[in-house]
Amino acid sequence: MKVQSFETVRRVVFGHGAVESLPDEVKRVKGSRVLVVTDPGIKSAGVLDQVTGVLERANLGFSVFAEVEPDPRVEVALAGAKAAKDFGPDVIVGLGGGSALDISKVSSVLLANEGPIDKYFGMELVPRPGVPLILIPTTAGTGSEMTSICVLSDTQNKVKKGIVSEHMFARAALLDPQLTLALPPRVTAMTGMDALVHAIESFVGVRATVFTDTLNLQAIRLVAANLRQAFAQGQNLAARENMLHASCLAGMAFSNTQNGLDHALALAIGGKFHLPHGLLTAFILPWVMEYNLIATPHKYVEIAKAFGEKTRRMPEVQAARLAVKAVKNLLDDLGISYRLSSYGVPREEFPALAKTTVGAVRLISNNPRTVTEQEVIGILEANY
Ligand SMILES: [Fe+2]
Repeated sequence: MKVQSFETVRRVVFGHGAVESLPDEVKRVKGSRVLVVTDPGIKSAGVLDQVTGVLERANLGFSVFAEVEPDPRVEVALAGAKAAKDFGPDVIVGLGGGSALDISKVSSVLLANEGPIDKYFGMELVPRPGVPLILIPTTAGTGSEMTSICVLSDTQNKVKKGIVSEHMFARAALLDPQLTLALPPRVTAMTGMDALVHAIESFVGVRATVFTDTLNLQAIRLVAANLRQAFAQGQNLAARENMLHASCLAGMAFSNTQNGLDHALALAIGGKFHLPHGLLTAFILPWVMEYNLIATPHKYVEIAKAFGEKTRRMPEVQAARLAVKAVKNLLDDLGISYRLSSYGVPREEFPALAKTTVGAVRLISNNPRTVTEQEVIGILEANY
């Protein structure tokens, strides 16, 4: 086996009420002046007040940047960075879904690294660390609290681009299931599926290791056993907590492996058609599983087992196909169609989408099966 490595966030604080430990975590990183980066929805839902209340009671100075949008544009990253420069925080707290956490990461590193931001898109191109980051997810989720990745929308070129930098790892992640109780069912379904996609893409990927496999299998088991309940019964704290753990475990894993063809397709389609990231990765998942399955059937058997499918005495490929069936059943229960024609993507876009997909080297290079533009078009046609 060739030499590989594994890295992750050094501290995770989790459990009901974990958010109350924020002042201790701020002090642990020697911070006293906090910029909270979040989105308007978190603010109007009262979740921001919960967090700033904790800071106020601890007499910590803070400012808030609450202008993060879904699928954030590069311009929002620059606005976040400007808010950070103007306030001069010594710690940044990201609060929200993946978009808010991603903008908090880039705001931190842009404090210490001159623009233009374009030179940082890619793998490990950011020279210096910014101020310490504490990330608090409110969805379960993107797992962004555990990754060194930030994805931004380049609206001029209609593509989504990633910055991957070790300097964007949080110093601490706070996982508090209370903060996810108010998520509407549809958002619960989409973000929960995104966590499952991370776990599956990382698990079957060519860069998988014993460390990521362990995390991913448990993440898959947790999603299989809890997403339906979190969707159908939003106040179920145990289901919410298990989903938050699943999202976190998958995030720890895929930050090391990157994702695969599903995410490459999701970023290509999402760059042109503004569909939520979790919805895209969810409806693409069964297509990509069907395509990839013959490359690593034993891994798909493990996924089927994690979903509780009975695979004993079955030929390997037949057992592997039960993983796809299990995922389709889950999508059916969550009311998510996996026909592309449901989402307003016209056929004439297929060649351009295929080109962008195959060009996403960071993702495609982890996919277990090699893929050409023609094959991507075939996948889109077959699932239209
Ligand atoms: Fe994702």
